Amino acid sequence: MFTRDIGVDLGTANTLVCVKGKGIIMREPSVVAYDVRNDAVRAVGTEAKEMIGRTPGSIIAVRPLKDGVIADFDVTTAMLKRFVSRALKGSFFSRVRMVICIPVGITEVESRAVYDAAKQAGATDIDLIEEPMAAAVGAGLPVSDASGSMVVDIGGGTSEMAVISLGDIVTAQSVRIGGDDLDEAIIGYIRKKHNLLIGERTAEIIKIQIGSAKPYEGESEIEIKGRNLVDGLPKNVTITSKEVRSAMADPIEQIIDAIRITLEKTPPELSADIIDKGITLTGGGALLRGFAELVAEETGIPVSVALNPLDCVVLGTAKRLENNNGFENYVFRRGKRFR
Ligand SMILES: Nc1ncnc2c1ncn2[C@@H]1O[C@H](COP(=O)(O)OP(=O)(O)OP(=O)(O)O)[C@@H](O)[C@H]1O
Ligand SMILES: [Mg+2]
Repeated sequence: MFTRDIGVDLGTANTLVCVKGKGIIMREPSVVAYDVRNDAVRAVGTEAKEMIGRTPGSIIAVRPLKDGVIADFDVTTAMLKRFVSRALKGSFFSRVRMVICIPVGITEVESRAVYDAAKQAGATDIDLIEEPMAAAVGAGLPVSDASGSMVVDIGGGTSEMAVISLGDIVTAQSVRIGGDDLDEAIIGYIRKKHNLLIGERTAEIIKIQIGSAKPYEGESEIEIKGRNLVDGLPKNVTITSKEVRSAMADPIEQIIDAIRITLEKTPPELSADIIDKGITLTGGGALLRGFAELVAEETGIPVSVALNPLDCVVLGTAKRLENNNGFENYVFRRGKRFR
């Protein structure tokens, strides 16, 4: 029959889409630019992200998800529709099966919103999978074994950690702190310390270029441009990697605290497995310089970063679509309820 199977990682920072048989077909920032006069969508994804902070009054560039959940339903739906239509490529499909991820520990209303957005974007059958489960499968962890695997996914809006055994989550924790909060911490620091106002795009560039969780060899600095808060004029300032690290220390500590709490809640047999096998990091935040080392130091457990950490979640949905590999025992708690 004319069925298309698609997997979606609807993230606060990035949305990725895969199609069964084709692999990942799209990686785009979760951003929409629209015309306020008639609500018409002007651009989505990378093109819209370039517009953030640079739009005239008639156009607004927004990120419709915040802290891992939908903040603006209509805009999220419009974005998802565009992305799904790329996956369908103008062909007609009588059924569109969609596997889409949600953070762990979100409310019924929040997961219902994801379900409804998927439906409005054209999906006829929908499975909701918790993000760390998808991340673990996508990272290639042996989730079906009778042995504990631990995954920590650091996204833009949330950090989620889970211990998985026999194909399902044993214990999980989610904090609404992620890469966006690191950016915000940098903005706050530069405003306070240097009287300089910078945008979120600039803050993210600073974080990626010189940011770190631990001191590193070849520490450097970066010259940034922003608006002087004293006289309102454009101004240049040089920021060191050490300053950036201290600016981000608070949110990083909160993420590590959540990892500790997850470990504390883990049954002892599984803790022993995790001590042997280590923790696997996924999500864009796993790429922060020195973060894996810091987590290892603070927990005393070996830590590794998954291959292509930004792709793990959507690769997990792809496994569900291909042969259900890894999800044989997973209970689709939330998805079923809405059928
Ligand atoms: N090299 C890097 N160093 C530090 N941070 C990075 C790097 N690359 C990407 N990031 C950060 O990773 C985050 C995006 O990660 P990801 O795409 O996994 O999030 P998401 O899935 O959209 O969000 P969520 O899962 O919270 O909904 C952004 O905050 C981005 O700035
Ligand atoms: Mg994510």
